[in-house]
This record gives sequence, C-alpha cells and structure tokens, in this order.
Amino acid sequence: MDQFALEAIERIAASPRAPYETITVNRLTPIIGAEVAGVDLSRDLPERQLAEVRRAFLENHVLVFRDQVLTTEQHKRFGRLFGTLRALPVEDIDGDDPELVVIKATKASRFVAGDTWHSDGTADPAPSLGSMLYITETPEIGTGGDTLFANMHLAYDMLSPAMKAFLEGLTAIHDGAIPWQGYTPPHELPKTEHPMVVRHPETGRKLLFVNSGFTSHVVQLSRTESRTLLDMLFGMIAREQALTCRVRWAPGTLVFWDNRCTQHHAVWDYYPFSRYGERVTILGERPAA
Ligand code: SIN
Repeated sequence: MDQFALEAIERIAASPRAPYETITVNRLTPIIGAEVAGVDLSRDLPERQLAEVRRAFLENHVLVFRDQVLTTEQHKRFGRLFGTLRALPVEDIDGDDPELVVIKATKASRFVAGDTWHSDGTADPAPSLGSMLYITETPEIGTGGDTLFANMHLAYDMLSPAMKAFLEGLTAIHDGAIPWQGYTPPHELPKTEHPMVVRHPETGRKLLFVNSGFTSHVVQLSRTESRTLLDMLFGMIAREQALTCRVRWAPGTLVFWDNRCTQHHAVWDYYPFSRYGERVTILGERPAA
C-alpha cells in the first residue's frame, strides 16, 4: 500500500469513539462494519438504545444484528425509524409487497441480485439512505453467500491530493439500464448526473461516489479518458482489501448498511445451493458536492 493509503487508514482507525451504554459494538475491521449485540429488533427500541444504534451506524457504516426473529412488519418498522421505505415500480415487485425486495437464489437462478460492486439506487435523483437485508436461508452446504462491503470515505481519502483535486469538479452519469444489459427492462429506467465526490449528508465527510454497477461515464471527459478513469477507480475498489469487511450470514441475521458511503458485492459462490432474504430500502436525498 502506498503512503497516501496508509496515512488515510491510520487517520480513520485512530479517530476517537465514545463508549456505548445500551448496546455492544464489536468492529469487524478498523475501517468498516460492526456486529451489534443487545438489541431485539422485533421490539420497540428504547430511545437511548435507538440513539446509540444511530451513532453506531454513522461510525461503522454497516451494522450486523444476529439471531433476530422478525416478521415482515417488524423488519419494516425498524426500517421506518430511519426514513420512508422505497416502494418499487409495480413491474419490479417479486412478491405482493412493493416495499420488500426478495433476494433469492436457487439452482434455477441464472444471475443473482448484487453480484458486482454497487450501491443501491444511485441512478435515482435521490439515491437511497440505506438498506436492511434480513436473511432467513443460507446455502445448505454450510458456507458461501457472504457479502462484501467497502468504505467510500476511505476510497476517497486514499487518493493522492492531485487526483482528489481533479475529481472534485467532475460529474458522472449513473444509468439504471446498466444492470439490465442483455435483458428487456420492464419500464423506463432512471438516469442521473451526480458529482464524483460528495459529502455525507449527516457527517459532512467527503467520499467517492461512483460505482461499477450504475456509473456509465464521466460527463466532462472524452470516452477513452472516462473509461480509463472509471476503470482505475473501480479497480481500486475491487482490489483494495483494506477498504472492505466481509459479512458471513446465518439465518436470522439482519444487516443495515449506509448506501451513501459504502458499496457492496454479494458473492455468488454457492451455486447450486439456495439463499433467501428480504430487503427494505430507505429513501435518501440528492447527494451534494
Ligand atoms: C443487494 O442488495 O445488492 C444484495 C446483497 C446480498 O444479497 O447480500
């Protein structure tokens, strides 16, 4: 790792954190992710506990809650504590509930949701705040189907000052048609221009805001320049393990991630076995430079 990266990691790892009183928070890495214990998501969270969950979310970006037994309504109620749930267009609904995305892979699957680095909904003018995936079935073989998460604050911080300055003035197109390549989409898909470097709306921290799942090109560059720049950035996200944490699921695990400053990659390494979960997505706001 070069000096810019090492210094950026040291800064994040050393940032002070106040202790928690109503929950236990065990970090997955110094940079991203934490397991949270002492919370029963099927019940109303006491105010102090909810405040600590909110703080843990902003500090760690990805929270893992184990051994939860939730109805769909309890799952949604936890989601609504953070904002309005996104209702999908009627053609996208895989069950009868527009607020629930079914994440399902079986022997019959020919692709699975999210098996590339991406952040949910960045082609929308106001991409999502976060997603909560509740997994109830993991591959019968007892392994596989993990999800990787990467910290986009660190991805930005790792860049050289010259590259940061170059990216600051640029914008990129996020195109909802990219995941549909080779298929006919069921309806018109969103396409939005966002700055390449934005600030987290709650913490004000800068982050890199492009992802290989949705970003098609950089508006101000030639086609070749744009492809080269995006490939460099996507390559860094795919290659740099220091950006990431890895979540191993068990039935009853709920993971809540911040789509504003992370990307994720669902690893489809368990074919022909099955995996099942349900996701709610919380609406966010337009990212600002
Ligand atoms: C997704 O929301 O992209 C799917 C994540 C997963 O299946 O782990």
